[in-house]
Amino acid sequence: MPPALKALFAQIAGWACALLLAGAGWLPPGIWPLAGMQALCATAAAAAMRSARWWLAIHAAFAPLLVVAGRADIAPAWYLAAFALLLVVYWTSFRTQVPLYLSNRATIAALAGLLPVGRPLRVLDLGSGTGSLLRGLARLRPDCRFDGVEAAPAPWLLSRLLARAAGQIAVRRGDFFAGSWAPYDVVYAFLSPVPMARVWAKAQQELMPGALVVSNSFPIPGRKPDEVVEVGDRRATRLYVYRVADGRASK
Ligand SMILES: C[S@@+](CC[C@H](N)C(=O)[O-])C[C@H]1O[C@@H](n2cnc3c(N)ncnc32)[C@H](O)[C@@H]1O
Repeated sequence: MPPALKALFAQIAGWACALLLAGAGWLPPGIWPLAGMQALCATAAAAAMRSARWWLAIHAAFAPLLVVAGRADIAPAWYLAAFALLLVVYWTSFRTQVPLYLSNRATIAALAGLLPVGRPLRVLDLGSGTGSLLRGLARLRPDCRFDGVEAAPAPWLLSRLLARAAGQIAVRRGDFFAGSWAPYDVVYAFLSPVPMARVWAKAQQELMPGALVVSNSFPIPGRKPDEVVEVGDRRATRLYVYRVADGRASK
């Protein structure tokens, strides 16, 4: 079950449990016992559905924070504005399970070091965020073309604006699984464990033999990387490098 659906069920279960207990007279009167019981039941329901640990903390805090927020004198428009901001930045993260975070400079340099030299390459960044990786690579490899596909509107718009001057960068808004990867020599991914099996399946189907798939931090499940690059930065980034051996050309 998708995590967002589990969270919805856990919240509903939490409220059902707290309201039943309150209705039966088993809770002291007042909003805090109700909110506390809701938090307890929702957290237990989320744990029973094997939700990730951070969801348990969210469920434990959600109802008490609703009470606090309800008592604070904050105009409803602020909540709407915060929601709208999160929506344009994170967009479908609840479904893709890939939030926005950016590759750092050391990683960009390490990735540039992996790009074969002596010929112009086409490089695709899956989920290109604000385009910072593409701009950094373009500075290091002016002979190559860099494309990005990003689903979320705000990072995509920012990347479009910032890449206007660079003729070798093109960013498109959409789902990176929708278009063809066939023209690319290198495909870079900094995503999450969730889409990696699908990324590899598409890479094998569409990329030419010899093309590289480089994944920042998240290895492809069940597949031994051809190379692992230790970036040597503070967060101990690892780049998992996979060479496509049986691409579409040999099928
Ligand atoms: C962790 S960020 C990486 C940003 C950039 N590639 C970098 O390394 O700095 C992942 C991005 O992928 C985007 N994303 C996730 N799934 C996507 C999909 N199926 N199609 C397009 N973008 C996607 C997210 O919106 C997020 O901005």
